[in-house]
Amino acid sequence: MSLNGKILVTGGAGFIGSHIVDALMEIRDVDEVVVIDDLSTGKAWNIKHHIGSDRFRFVKDNIRNRGVIHEVMKDVNYVFHEAAMANVPLSLKDPHRCYEINVAGTLNLLEEARIQDSIFIYASSCAVYGNPRSLPVREDHPPRPISPYGASKLSAEALCLAYNEAYGLKSACLRYFNVYGPRQAYSQYAGVITIFTNRALRGEDLIIYGDGMQTRDFIYVRDIVEANLLAAECEDAYGKVFNVGTGKETSIIELALKIREITGADVQIIHKPPLKGDIRRSVADISRMKRIIGFTPRTSLRDGLSSFIKYVSSGLQ
Ligand SMILES: NC(=O)c1ccc[n+]([C@@H]2O[C@H](COP(=O)([O-])OP(=O)(O)OC[C@H]3O[C@@H](n4cnc5c(N)ncnc54)[C@H](O)[C@@H]3O)[C@@H](O)[C@H]2O)c1
Repeated sequence: MSLNGKILVTGGAGFIGSHIVDALMEIRDVDEVVVIDDLSTGKAWNIKHHIGSDRFRFVKDNIRNRGVIHEVMKDVNYVFHEAAMANVPLSLKDPHRCYEINVAGTLNLLEEARIQDSIFIYASSCAVYGNPRSLPVREDHPPRPISPYGASKLSAEALCLAYNEAYGLKSACLRYFNVYGPRQAYSQYAGVITIFTNRALRGEDLIIYGDGMQTRDFIYVRDIVEANLLAAECEDAYGKVFNVGTGKETSIIELALKIREITGADVQIIHKPPLKGDIRRSVADISRMKRIIGFTPRTSLRDGLSSFIKYVSSGLQ
């Protein structure tokens, strides 16, 4: 089986979604790629190169709008569901809105996917684990989200799995770890790699909250795209959740030193008091993803950082 027909990418103008769109547009058997995105954090710029193609359609709307979802999902074969309030601090400020978008919005899509018998790949998050008790964290680790965002991602996962059990919907949940790469919007809410890289290239000091020994599992966006495409084609993946990380643990101090070295920036690394709620260590056990989906991430942190830094220095971000 290979990807074909009509495909919907929710949040397709966002950081990760737009890379999925690019990859789908490269596949000859894909007849049409439809993006629904309200541009709340995404940018039309990220998909501008597809505008005008007769295989591409952009719908600027909200996934909470059931009428629009009903219309765009007619005859859809696959859904890559990326649209979300993808941000922990915002979810703490506005949990209702987070729930509406991330949970109720997902339910709207699942209901249409059920009617259309679409394959449904859901962008979940390692935030469902909260502060893991054992590392590397496996999918069967008890989920204990510590933010409305994490709770919303877990609730939407539960819906995807319930739709699989109850209606046989072909759904799979991918728990992304820390994703980085081109097009991640640079703001106070961006990932640490985007912030450090932009600051280093502007000659601004790198700020670490706490001792810098907290760790994360950083995965390059191209690898995330590949995991999505493989999961969609893998019947054994339906009804399951998967960690999508690299299985490699990197401390924030190590990351800051690497970015400073690759950029050659003359900046200081400054420590500030730790952030409340910041988890200490995070790294994925990726054996399930390797075994069932047959996917192994290919981009090393050094290679991913080098191409990302090149991209940011070229002024594209
Ligand atoms: N970036 C990461 O490190 C990371 C890690 C784990 C999980 N995720 C998940 O991956 C997905 C994509 O995240 P991203 O980093 O690309 O974020 P992003 O903010 O760049 O992308 C989200 C997209 O969804 C759109 N959107 C938001 N609310 C919408 C709504 N109600 N209706 C229609 N469109 C809406 C935004 O405009 C944006 O284009 C999200 O589901 C996020 O939870 C991301």
